[in-house]
Amino acid sequence: MKRIAILASGTGTNTENIIKYFKNSSLISVTLVLSNKKEAKVLEKATRLGVTSSYFDKNSFRNTNAVFTILKEQADYIVLAGFLLKIPLKIIEAFPNKIINIHPALLPKYGGKGMYGMHVHNAVVKNRETASGITIHYVNENYDEGAIIFQKSVEVLVCDTAEDIAQKIHVLEQENFPKVIEKVILENG
Ligand code: GRF
Repeated sequence: MKRIAILASGTGTNTENIIKYFKNSSLISVTLVLSNKKEAKVLEKATRLGVTSSYFDKNSFRNTNAVFTILKEQADYIVLAGFLLKIPLKIIEAFPNKIINIHPALLPKYGGKGMYGMHVHNAVVKNRETASGITIHYVNENYDEGAIIFQKSVEVLVCDTAEDIAQKIHVLEQENFPKVIEKVILENG
């Protein structure tokens, strides 16, 4: 059984979708959900779905081995699903090509520090882009810079608001993220 730990900071729609997708898998399971935000809705969602979830503060994540040790003991892969902190090098090095992130834009455009959630979609509207999409990539020590695993684009209409784009991206995430994670794990072993 390959074990996935999910790191998330927010609502958790991707986390919920991934947990449900692997619920009946005999090969892959989500064993842990961790968040840097005590009140993050993702923690309630994980608990409701029967997955162990807990909170850690930024300082312990960055300056102690607490989270690193839990991940090493309980996970083979790490999935970032709306996680807003940079991953410490020690964790990156311990999980080579085993940390997967989803970004709500077509990287390398609209990536990097501060580019998350509506900030991304507002920038896409402001620049009058005619397409946006999702990027699923391996994680390295910098925001949104690891090797790209999968991208899918969606048309942006002139009349689309940032909220319209967010909804289109949400659909792409729901449809593709679990399948891409499964493909990576089954191919990498
Ligand atoms: C998603 O848009 C994802 O692309 C980005 O953060 C958001 C997480 O949303 N990395 P949710 O918390 O899974 O609903």
